[in-house]
Amino acid sequence: KQTALSGAMIGKGNHRHFMHKEIYEQPAVIGDTLSTFVNPATRTVALQDLPFDLAEVSRVTIVACGTSFHSALVAKYWFEKLARISVEVDIASEFRYRAAELPEGGLALFISQSGETADTLAALRYAKSQKQHVAVLVNQPESSMAREADVMLQTLCGPEIGVASTKAFTAQLAVLACFAIAVARARGKIDTQREAELATALAEVPSRIAEVLADEEAIEALGKSLIDARDVLYLGRGTSYPLALEGALKLKELSYIHAEGYAAGEMKHGPIALIDDQMPVIVVAPHDELFEKTASNVQEVLARGGKVIMMSDAAGIAAFPGKTLATIRLPDCDPFVAPILYSIPLQLLAYHTAVHKGTDVDQPRNLAKSVTVE
Ligand code: G6P
Repeated sequence: KQTALSGAMIGKGNHRHFMHKEIYEQPAVIGDTLSTFVNPATRTVALQDLPFDLAEVSRVTIVACGTSFHSALVAKYWFEKLARISVEVDIASEFRYRAAELPEGGLALFISQSGETADTLAALRYAKSQKQHVAVLVNQPESSMAREADVMLQTLCGPEIGVASTKAFTAQLAVLACFAIAVARARGKIDTQREAELATALAEVPSRIAEVLADEEAIEALGKSLIDARDVLYLGRGTSYPLALEGALKLKELSYIHAEGYAAGEMKHGPIALIDDQMPVIVVAPHDELFEKTASNVQEVLARGGKVIMMSDAAGIAAFPGKTLATIRLPDCDPFVAPILYSIPLQLLAYHTAVHKGTDVDQPRNLAKSVTVE
C-alpha cells in the first residue's frame, strides 16, 4: 500500500528520479535532523525530556524491518561501544512471534520511516505488553507508531517517495548516533572532550556528504560496469558490516542483481567459494581500528581473482596500490560517523547500476514503500 502523500503531489525538481533527488537532499535533511539534537556552541548532544531515566536503563532492544533494520544494527555497535550497554536487535517479523523475555524497565526502540509497518507495529505492542519503555524513531510524526509510543524521536526528512529508502536511513543513523551519545553520558561512559569531538564530527557530516556527492560521475561509471554481474558480494566489519548488508539490499531491490552482504571475517565460512574473476566484491573499509583485518580479507579475494571495488579513505586506498579494480575515495572522518558517509556511495552505486539496466528505480517490481499488511 502506498503512503498517502504520493509522487504526484511532489516534484522531482531537476532530478530524473525521486531517489536521486532524495540522495541529494541528504546534506540538508541530516543538517535539519541534527539541529534538534546537537548544540554546536556547547558541542554537546541532548535528547528531549524523557518519561524515564536513561541512566537506569539496563538493556536496549531495537526492532525494525528492511533498511530501518540496518540502521538498528549500526546502532547496536554504537550503543555497546560508546555507552557500554547491552543491545539486542531483531527483525520485527521474527521478534513479534518469538515471545522474547524482556525484563521490566528495559528500553525497546522501534525504527520505521513510515511508522506504519505492520510487523514493527505488532512488535511494539508486544514490548508494551511486557512493560518496556517504548521509544520510536520515525519520519512520520502522525503515524500509528508515534501515537502508541512513550517517546518519539523524529527524522526530519520530509516525504520519501522512492521505494528504496535513502535519506530516511542516513537521518535515522544521525539520530541514533545522538541517542548513543546521550545514553553514554547518562551512564557516565563518555567524557566532555570525547562528546565534543563526536558532536563536531556529526555537525560536519552534511558538508562531507556534499563532498561525496561531488564524486558521482566516477560512481556512475562503476555502476555501468556492474550491469552484467550475476552476483555481487559486499563485505565490511564493525559498523561497516550493516552497511554491507544495506549496500547489497539497495543493489538487489533496484537492479535485480543478486547481491549479498557479509561480515568480512565470515567470508571464509562460505562466500569465498563463490569468488572468481567474474565476481565483483565491494568492500566498505574506512581506515579504522578494524582496517587491517578487512585488508587481509581483501587480499584473500584478490588472490582468487575477485574484482575488488574498495570504498575507503586516502589511507585505506593507499594500502592497495593498483591492485583493486576500482576505488571510491571518501573524505577522512571520525570512524564514528563513517556509516553515515559510506551510505552515500552505496546508494549512488545501486542507483546508477539500476538506471543503466533500465529498471524502474523509484518503484521496483514487487516492492511497496510501506508494508502495512503482514
Ligand atoms: C519496505 C520499504 C523499505 C523499508 C521497509 C521498512 O520494505 O520498501 O524501503 O526499509 O519497508 O519500512 P519502514 O517504514 O518501517 O522503515
